Amino acid sequence: MSITLAFDVYGTLINTHGVIEKLHAFLDSSVNAQDFSQTWRDKQLEYSFRRGLMRDYAPFSVCTKDALNYTAAHYQVSLSDSDKAALLASYAVLPAFDDVTSSLQSLSQKGYKLLAFSNGTEAAVEGLLKNAGIRDLFVGVVSVDDLQTFKPNPDVYQYFTQKAGSIAAQTWLISSNPFDVIGAISSGLKAAWVQRSKAAIFDPWGVEPTVTIDSLTKLENALAS
Ligand code: 2OP
Repeated sequence: MSITLAFDVYGTLINTHGVIEKLHAFLDSSVNAQDFSQTWRDKQLEYSFRRGLMRDYAPFSVCTKDALNYTAAHYQVSLSDSDKAALLASYAVLPAFDDVTSSLQSLSQKGYKLLAFSNGTEAAVEGLLKNAGIRDLFVGVVSVDDLQTFKPNPDVYQYFTQKAGSIAAQTWLISSNPFDVIGAISSGLKAAWVQRSKAAIFDPWGVEPTVTIDSLTKLENALAS
């Protein structure tokens, strides 16, 4: 059986901080666009965790929208409805990281089965990957939306293997998000943590990634070792 690779999307394949350029148009010099982007992302994830715990599911785009409202209030930035719509629209056209295309092409040629696996809805992820020019690298997209909950609920990792037709021991999650790596390993999958910045810290949870890499260019060797 070939090895199945479940690629996390936001933050792993797609750079959520691609919004920073757009943010400059809406923020004055008192607000750092990188900080704004980080708070927006952190709150988006927090809202997904909370919705999962409360069993009050709404699509990930709702977490993104609510997190933008929080972040604007936090930094005391006044955004009109059309400003918010423009920022949310930019979330649908975020760029892929530079290491994605060639690394995934090579993995696919070596016989690995590649799927995208995300908190985003299937339609949102399909659009995002197509826009970034990387949709054809994957044999499929699996979204937690089918289960109406979010990572790291164990059900979503089991659902992934079921949809992919794989078994947990032959399945790797590839993610820059420590909570996602911990969720996958706790569900019996293997997992590579992509440390997208030197400052990124892996959560001290008593669960370690199977491998840690600082670029997807290193994934093929890491899987083979
Ligand atoms: C994703 O599922 C967690 O944002 C991350 O794409």
